[in-house]
Amino acid sequence: MKKISVIPGDGIGPEVIKAAVKVLDKACPKEFEFVYVSMGGNAIDKFGVPLPDESLKTCKESDATLLGAVGGAKWDSQPPENRPEKGLLKLRSGLEVFANIRPAKIFAPLASACPLRKDIAEKGIDFVIVRELTGGIYFGKHEFLDNNNSARDVMQYSRDEIKRIALVAFNAAMSRRKILTSVDKANVLSTSRLWREVINDVAKDFLEVKINHLYVDNASMQLIKAPSDFDVIVTENMFGDILSDEASQIVGSIGMIPSASLGENNRGLYEPIHGSAPDIAGQDKANPIGTILAAAMMLRYSFKMHSEADKIENSVNQVLNEGFRTPDIYTEGTKLISGSKMRDEIISRL
Ligand code: IPM
Ligand code: MG
Repeated sequence: MKKISVIPGDGIGPEVIKAAVKVLDKACPKEFEFVYVSMGGNAIDKFGVPLPDESLKTCKESDATLLGAVGGAKWDSQPPENRPEKGLLKLRSGLEVFANIRPAKIFAPLASACPLRKDIAEKGIDFVIVRELTGGIYFGKHEFLDNNNSARDVMQYSRDEIKRIALVAFNAAMSRRKILTSVDKANVLSTSRLWREVINDVAKDFLEVKINHLYVDNASMQLIKAPSDFDVIVTENMFGDILSDEASQIVGSIGMIPSASLGENNRGLYEPIHGSAPDIAGQDKANPIGTILAAAMMLRYSFKMHSEADKIENSVNQVLNEGFRTPDIYTEGTKLISGSKMRDEIISRL
């Protein structure tokens, strides 16, 4: 049996994780052993730290990790080193998952949830953001100076860090429409100038891929203006964080988007891109689809179980086609249901 570390986390995390685990049990019976791991605010409450050593160890020893979401206002007063988010960052770097894949695709039945002009949405929106996940400003030194009168965060990238994420992105482009957009701020930042240089170097080995460079401000505009032009986007950690939230709105709801974080081996980390949404936790309103699709990505990337992943994605499509909607994707004329009902509808079509 393959061992999956499961991190329910905080807020709506446990609800959406429960849905994904049930889906996996139905789609791939007896395939997985689930080991529950503590991380985030609940780990601070129980153990005093957001990522206990034991939790990281369990994740490192398992075949893949599935995560709900962490954080919440309750832990806002924690010192920066001990915030729930810090646990997530430590997990990402501890597992060495430097490549974060965030697909943004309009599900046909949700076309009306796209807030863009109809003629723009109708051209089809299907792109993937490849976000560098274990470097850059997230992992540079963060400090307050001059008696708290100034502060700084260091953004640093090495050639090797850029090269390995570039390879993931070029390979992703090769398996798709072969268009790669690299997003940086090379008109201002040194890290971006190095980024561009390395991307252009790697491009020499992928002559079939058409490569564009965009400044991040322009990229955020083009994503709204002409989203169908994009196929694969590769960018550094913080730009990727921002652009992927923008992408989530283009395709309808942040509740719909899964992500896979991968390293040199198959031991990936899979999570929805949404947060812990404490405002709706425990009310059975959370859309479990992002996490269910993250589980499907796990089947694909870590276990090459493509037909089971197809089955899950098809059930999601079918349920949406039949008009079932959680509150975040509800529009007039569709059927409003709870998060657990959405989960059960998806399971019953597997
Ligand atoms: C994300 C989240 C995290 C990030 C936070 C919770 C630290 O926004 O996964 O996009 O910034 O990476
Ligand atoms: Mg984010």
